[in-house]
Amino acid sequence: MSNFHLSNEEEHKEDPLRPKYHFLPPSNWMNDPNGPIFYKEEYHLFYQYNPTGNQWGNIHWGHAKSKDLVYWEYLPIALSPSKEKGETHCFSGCCVLDNGRPIIIYTSVGPNKSPSTGAEQWLAFSNVEMITWKKYEKNPIMTNSLHEKLEIHDWRDPFVWKEEDIWYLILGGHIKEPVQPIVLLYKSYNLYDWKYVGPLLIEDKSKGKNWECPNFFKLDENYILIVSPHNRVIYSIGSYDNYQFKPNIWNILDYGKLFYATNVMKDKNNRIILWAWIKAKGSKNWNGCLTLPRIISLSHNNNKLTFKFPSELQKLRKSKYCIENIKLDNQIIYNPFDTKDFCFEIQVELQLINLEIFYIKLTKNKSLRKEESIGFDLKTNNFWVGKDKVHYILPSDDKLLKLHIYIDVSIIEVIINDHACITTQIIPKDNFANNLEIGTVNGSIMIRKLLIWNLKSIW
Ligand code: FRU
Repeated sequence: MSNFHLSNEEEHKEDPLRPKYHFLPPSNWMNDPNGPIFYKEEYHLFYQYNPTGNQWGNIHWGHAKSKDLVYWEYLPIALSPSKEKGETHCFSGCCVLDNGRPIIIYTSVGPNKSPSTGAEQWLAFSNVEMITWKKYEKNPIMTNSLHEKLEIHDWRDPFVWKEEDIWYLILGGHIKEPVQPIVLLYKSYNLYDWKYVGPLLIEDKSKGKNWECPNFFKLDENYILIVSPHNRVIYSIGSYDNYQFKPNIWNILDYGKLFYATNVMKDKNNRIILWAWIKAKGSKNWNGCLTLPRIISLSHNNNKLTFKFPSELQKLRKSKYCIENIKLDNQIIYNPFDTKDFCFEIQVELQLINLEIFYIKLTKNKSLRKEESIGFDLKTNNFWVGKDKVHYILPSDDKLLKLHIYIDVSIIEVIINDHACITTQIIPKDNFANNLEIGTVNGSIMIRKLLIWNLKSIW
């Protein structure tokens, strides 16, 4: 861990909302994850970072690495705006290896190149340790003039992959007239000279007026496109022919409104790992953190994505509490640990038959307030996590509800039956009167299995 981090330690202790095992910078603002990549046996992550304040602005690329996806080591800032070249922010982008040499391609903006109409795509490369990054002298490598008469606004967030020795790159944005979100496709033999191929996809504006942070990848025989439409992140599983993506239905990737701007990478075991920015903040000097990594695969009938937390996260576990095959009927299970840290992992399998509500309350309040709890309301079929919710119909055959939950002080991530995700932040109204309480309203549940661990801090 860097000294910079240690010097802030005292301050962090005072912030009752600061997560303890989610990634966030030592202090100040962060947003999108950028350029995740597996390099020399380590995971590298970059992120949109303001090193001088806790609001968006002065955007640099922060950098960290990890051997195990759990513990992260801060590295020096990778990209800073080149003010002398008219650049004031280094927007989102990606990182790839060009014959083993790390390359970043990102969106460059400045006072004379506004994000909406003047953005450019720039390239930077590093030494072998990925510590010092140098911008290519001949930047920009791409300008909006590539599209000739097609007027694209908010052209940004490059995502690159290689297929049979050819590099492909996509960018998000929208067509100016009539407004339609678009993902544009380009190709190159060397990462420096790019040719516009055409639109990977144009959608109607019911899918969002503008698309940011496109991610595109092959999964088994299907192709997945994920986009961030200034609203909840959506994905479609479709086909890719003739340089065009044909989407099937669009799904919400995570029902939490604080979840945004995803990025994905493939690791050496061919796992597709996804991160996103959580727009959560504290009372002190942090604003924004990343989700835990999630492994993406396809459901058995290929019509939905399946999400799982990687097994590496089990390293966080301390003591364990376990019960099996118990009927919960008007009783309550309380926090089984004597811990002040509000850090838990919960895995539960329930059969919900005759009841109104199953809940996990996160505060000491007598009344069950949705904004301070997690739960399932069987009258409305709404599963809620704090202020966010998803309409969820239980599988008709077994009515089984399987939850995997991470609670990290104020940050909550829930995966329901492996495919519906909700990520949010819960800020109790009263003092930080945390409590863990599992119970039911008007009916009983069969707990097939309940596992609770209290978790360590990674910092
Ligand atoms: C998404 C986004 C990107 C942009 C970056 C700027 O949150 O707006 O489109 O590159 O943030 O920080």
